[in-house]
Amino acid sequence: MSPPRVSAVPVPLPVPAAEGVVRGNRVRRAPRLRAVESAPAPTASTARARRVLFVTSEMADYIKAGGLGDVAASLPRAVRGRSDVRVLIPGYDEVIAGSPDLRLVGRVPARAGIPACDIGEATLPDGLPVLVLVCPALYQRGGSPYVDGSGQDWSDNAVRFAALSRAAAVIACGNAGLEWQPELLHLNDWPCALAAAYLRWYGSDVPALLTIHNLAYQGLFPLDQAAALGVSSDQLDSITFHGRLSFLQAGIVHADQVNTVSESYARQITGPEQGCGLDALLSRHAAGGRLSGIVNGIDSSWDPRTDRHLTEHFDLHRWEGRVANKRRVQRALGLPHGEGPLFAVVSRLVHQKGLDLSCAVAHQIAAAGGQLAIIGGGEPRIEADVAALSRRFPSSVGVYPGFDEGLARKMFAGADFLLMPSRFEPCGLSQMYAQRFGCLPIAHATGGLIDTIEDGVTGLLFDSADADALRRCVQRAFRTYRMPGLLSAMRRAAMLRPGSWDLAGSHYLRLYDRVLERQA
Ligand code: ADP
Ligand code: GLC
Repeated sequence: MSPPRVSAVPVPLPVPAAEGVVRGNRVRRAPRLRAVESAPAPTASTARARRVLFVTSEMADYIKAGGLGDVAASLPRAVRGRSDVRVLIPGYDEVIAGSPDLRLVGRVPARAGIPACDIGEATLPDGLPVLVLVCPALYQRGGSPYVDGSGQDWSDNAVRFAALSRAAAVIACGNAGLEWQPELLHLNDWPCALAAAYLRWYGSDVPALLTIHNLAYQGLFPLDQAAALGVSSDQLDSITFHGRLSFLQAGIVHADQVNTVSESYARQITGPEQGCGLDALLSRHAAGGRLSGIVNGIDSSWDPRTDRHLTEHFDLHRWEGRVANKRRVQRALGLPHGEGPLFAVVSRLVHQKGLDLSCAVAHQIAAAGGQLAIIGGGEPRIEADVAALSRRFPSSVGVYPGFDEGLARKMFAGADFLLMPSRFEPCGLSQMYAQRFGCLPIAHATGGLIDTIEDGVTGLLFDSADADALRRCVQRAFRTYRMPGLLSAMRRAAMLRPGSWDLAGSHYLRLYDRVLERQA
């Protein structure tokens, strides 16, 4: 079956009558800064197959810690038909185990404190080629890509991700013994951002596109590690950030083009509030036309008619499966069957995601006859707060600590509303998954949440990241829930919202062309 087709732009729906300031919750888009360009529409000139090395520290086919893993699995596939793209990823245990056909095809020699690494080549079942950076001492040790089993950053992360960055640059320079050489490096976030710097330091003119998925994670390390990474004292300028090494800053300085995962976030990071100290640098890029935003897509596995994680399927015309999924989630989280709205949180439990705000409205939800289902793991203090909440409201708040793809999908398929009061959100995928499954996001109007949610049509937005604003929005949700006609119209509009990777992929291809043309 093909995904839901969109026949027309969803028609704006009436917003439920509101008390006091609630109507003021309607969020207007900020005027677009001219300097921060949106990605131009794709053209027919995308015929030439560009050779692109897509570098990432996670990929959902093997291992994922967040949305980057999803993007790394989808975007290369979206551009693959129209470009010769290969993925480069560290050889974690999961990658080695998931690559039964792995064969060694190249080598990156040791340099300073970075050990020599082999390069393996594997092909995923659908034919996508993957280059694996094989170095057991750096990557085969359990835990997650970034932290050990107790949640602490690996102490040698600087070397681990400098090795990834450097391997990308050496491959681009044609010095890794491979028969294939990319024309363009597409780097993702701080773990491979340093590749843009190594390219320049090695005198290469292969262009680099750096996609920032989250500016708050910059890859900061003590300055005295520079020599071990092969960074000489005359190269320190671009990588030094307030007395530390910043992989992300170096990437931004040396990349030919920087983009982020939504237009609104691209605008926001040029200001001090969201710029994480890099706003001046990013503003200069914007002024030079070298900062843009492309909203992520979602892949076709997010289809309530066919999702293999769901026992009960549904579509725009048959809602019974939604109801069955709601019961299933209630049972899984130890909640009694209730007729009120079910609110869900599917999230990493970190400051960014505003979990304290979601916890602050739990009492309101319970008192009004609703329920709250939370799935997630992360910061121990937030995990403890969430667990305490379920003890305090045992029949209204259910918690599953940790990550479970199947349960997460059932929650999108069964919950009525998704709480996403993120303090900042570069793009956000959860709200798009929820929409596709007819679960309406309730979100802070920031970053990609502005670009993907139409207030009162495909979800509910509120203006400031504080508990009162969220509380008022939750009141709106209760009112919406009591108006079945409006509720199902909004669900339909959310499910029909276009958001495929085909569209985002076309924008990336256009951006690849632009970067390459500028270079020519
Ligand atoms: P971020 O990358 O900042 O965590 P996104 O919304 O972009 O936020 O992506 C989060 C991804 O992680 C989505 O695929 C979401 O479904 C998934 N996810 C988050 N929490 C959980 C969880 N507890 N269990 C399973 N999947 C989760
Ligand atoms: C980051 C961001 C999230 C985004 C994801 C994928 O983890 O926090 O907003 O959706 O990357 O781009």
